[in-house]
Amino acid sequence: MANRSPAIKHTKLFINNEWIEAESGRTFQTIDPATENVIANISEADKADVDKAVSAALKAFARDAPWRTMDASSRALLMNKLADLIERDINHIASLESLDNGKTFANAVLDVQGSVAVIRHYAGWCDKIHGNTIPADGNHFSLTRKEPVGVVGQIIPWNYPLAMLSWKWGPALAAGCTIVLKPAEQTPLTALYVASLVQEAGFPAGVINVLPGYGPTAGAAIAEHPDINKVAFTGSTEVGHLIMAAAAKTNLKRVSLELGGKSPLVIFDDFDVNEAADIAHAALFDNHGQSCCAGSRTYVQAGIYDAFVARAKELAIQRKVGDPFGSDVVQGPQIDKDQLDKITALVESGKQQGATVQTGGARHGNVGFFFQPTVFSNVTDDMRIAKEEIFGPVQSIFKFNTLEEVIKRANNTTYGLAAGVLTNDINKALTFAKAVQAGSVWINCYDGITPQTPFGGYKKSGIGRELGEDGLHDYLEVKTITIKTPTKN
Ligand code: NAI
Ligand code: MG
Repeated sequence: MANRSPAIKHTKLFINNEWIEAESGRTFQTIDPATENVIANISEADKADVDKAVSAALKAFARDAPWRTMDASSRALLMNKLADLIERDINHIASLESLDNGKTFANAVLDVQGSVAVIRHYAGWCDKIHGNTIPADGNHFSLTRKEPVGVVGQIIPWNYPLAMLSWKWGPALAAGCTIVLKPAEQTPLTALYVASLVQEAGFPAGVINVLPGYGPTAGAAIAEHPDINKVAFTGSTEVGHLIMAAAAKTNLKRVSLELGGKSPLVIFDDFDVNEAADIAHAALFDNHGQSCCAGSRTYVQAGIYDAFVARAKELAIQRKVGDPFGSDVVQGPQIDKDQLDKITALVESGKQQGATVQTGGARHGNVGFFFQPTVFSNVTDDMRIAKEEIFGPVQSIFKFNTLEEVIKRANNTTYGLAAGVLTNDINKALTFAKAVQAGSVWINCYDGITPQTPFGGYKKSGIGRELGEDGLHDYLEVKTITIKTPTKN
């Protein structure tokens, strides 16, 4: 099933349903983060290629083009065909993802399954997107029509490469937009492979274009492009600022941003301590801590604090780190040297600022970008590890006493992506859920993300929502059509 050496069939840019070299002729290397070996050389898009892709996407969006004249229900058929093809090739795609990203093969399989579910969810929306009839003042009959915004640019990160592609393509295709997508430079392989399935499914040329390349070149060209009407971005808050500035300076394209987080998971002492430790462990360590909604601030009520820390430490020690294709491995490498260095620096700051290292705290091995599963206790809110996104396998455990206190502390952050609360007291759970400033709140669970439920951030965690019906809005214009009527009734 898993294949540590999957065939790399596609390394060029996918524009207008064709595989082409970058205009510059340049390529870049994509690296296996477990071995630091080069996997493949990939064509490197920059502005000239983005221009070419946008032209193709504009042409595909023309009023008389097949994508615009086909029934909405036919768009659904194409999307479902794409989902079926991804499912058919699940082992190959998951192998590519695991190799390129370093996540375990088992997790990569889950990501592919989740991506298929998202595309199918949005396929179902195609012929159910409709406006209203409105009781307007005067002799008027008014109605609204929802129309696709046009060509959309999509810039995605490396932590969930295929899943982020599906979150972007699903609503864009359901709405009837055409797409220029840039995968992250660290993880171009699954987007390119799935582009070949776009071709096989029979999407008209130019509807979907995939351009691997770097952020400041290809990414910036997308953010600045005058013919792109909307840009969807997932990644760092720092780059989120740049995307919005680029939109402001050029054509005021719509911007949706899904940025970082410092999400609190609050555990009350009425909750079973072992179950709490399991949930908190997964909330942080899943995907090696490289998750925008990672439960990276674990707040534990004083009554069970010591027992919780002891159990959290045990779980981290048991965590098997190694080759992501290894059958009993649950943690592979971090994505690259930059991320390893960032994690190392933040962990050092935690030590210096007085947090207690229960386990871990350093690089694992010296080949590949592995980091030891790390648990800090006695973390206080003023420390850097309490404030900054670590994006690594580093759990920080804080102590609290009361509900009101923990609400204040949970909200004392510039982020607002997600939050969790574990308690058997419904009143505490609901009070926290209403008071916390976060786009998703999970009660007695964590990471409860489904295709049907909106996901996105408060504050500097972003703008807009993805998934579910809310995920469609940013891809749609609302047109009001008003007709004069002879009488009021
Ligand atoms: P990044 O924000 O630089 O990269 C994300 C995407 O943006 C990539 O496709 C990249 O090529 C593109 N990009 C970079 N600079 C750009 C620019 N000037 N214009 C347009 N596109 C640009 O994130 P990076 O450097 O990979 O990671 C840095 C930190 O960001 C991580 O340590 C983590 O804290 C956070 N992050 C958050 C993610 C999330 O899921 N919200 C995902 C990845 C990173
Ligand atoms: Mg960056």
